Amino acid sequence: MNTKHDRKPGGGGAGLRAWARAAALALGTAVLSGCGAGQYISIGDTAAGYNREVLNLGLWAIAISAVIFIGVSAALFYTVQKFREDRNTAEPQQFHGNNKLEVWLVAVPIVIVLGLSVLSVRSLARLNPVSKESVGIEALGAQFWWNFSYPANAAAAGGVVTNGNEMVMPAEAKIAVTTTSRDVIHGFWAPNLGGQRASIPTVKKSWQLDTDRPGVYQGNCSQLCGASHANMRFKVVALPADRYETFETAAQAYRAPTPAPGSAEARGYTIFMQGKAATGAIACASCHRVQGTPAAGVSGPDLSFFGTRRTLGAGKWEAMTPARWEDPEAARILHLWLKNSPGVKPGSLMPTYDGSTYYVNGKPQKGGVLTDQEIDDVAAYLRSLQLPEEADYWRGSPAITSGGQQ
Ligand code: CUA
Repeated sequence: MNTKHDRKPGGGGAGLRAWARAAALALGTAVLSGCGAGQYISIGDTAAGYNREVLNLGLWAIAISAVIFIGVSAALFYTVQKFREDRNTAEPQQFHGNNKLEVWLVAVPIVIVLGLSVLSVRSLARLNPVSKESVGIEALGAQFWWNFSYPANAAAAGGVVTNGNEMVMPAEAKIAVTTTSRDVIHGFWAPNLGGQRASIPTVKKSWQLDTDRPGVYQGNCSQLCGASHANMRFKVVALPADRYETFETAAQAYRAPTPAPGSAEARGYTIFMQGKAATGAIACASCHRVQGTPAAGVSGPDLSFFGTRRTLGAGKWEAMTPARWEDPEAARILHLWLKNSPGVKPGSLMPTYDGSTYYVNGKPQKGGVLTDQEIDDVAAYLRSLQLPEEADYWRGSPAITSGGQQ
């Protein structure tokens, strides 16, 4: 049955899809920016070229859909008015077999769908290529943290510059982020900077993001990946070009400071590197890397600049003050974290250091024991792992708050 009534929804179908897409975009913006007066998180942040392109595409889709909506509505109202049953009780004239009309009713929706497809493909072509000039950053997802490494930045002390859970990038530059994973599928997503991308084991895929506005952006894992999926956050600090260069140079030259003999940091260093055989406490160095020391573990996040970082437990806690881990509350949380990480972050694979049971691949393990003093010594060592002050990427970096204002 090729009646007008069968065709109409076909013509409106493309419009409906476009409307749904536009509505999803608008809803996404509303939901994502609904985080109160704190951090501004939005896919509508037009400081990013990526978001501008997607928004532009969305506006085209909305405009085309609006024209279809108005046209179909007008035709519907006109028809309902003109051919009311009470004024025209005879059976309406049928147009079955009207080939000319049917060709039009097929052709018009095809043109609409093709038009929207061309716009979408054009946007994809603009968004996906990664240029040679892009700054390369590798984002490695793991249960439940991130490592960001800078393949172009060979560290003088060996390896490449890597930072756990805090990504540093230049503003006003194209960034090529290469996502991958070391266990399950994660999702790399900093909404203000670009679309979400899967981090897949054994796959390395590059894609671009950028922002015109220096500042601190929120990132989240966007793929359900286990017990602490919601505690797998990260920060992106976008720096003005000159400050990024300062960071880059200092990070390449960085060697973890050697603690003064007899200091708390020195005692912490020994435990960090060797653990405590007497109680079975595993060395931190077996899982973590610290640039410029023998610590080269890769099963946990890189701790090279831990003292400069302002987040702990992949963004579960933030110490967003210049005092950082010297702040009494932050220090208390760091102590709890070191003592029993799985106890404060579900699914954390870090061993416990208070003798409680933790699980590796579902198998119970007995944690070794460190005294409170020894834990504080390790914390003191971690706090000493700082970039030089001029390379501190947090200093003077504003959090982007509501409405994109600083
Ligand atoms: Cu990783 Cu969710």
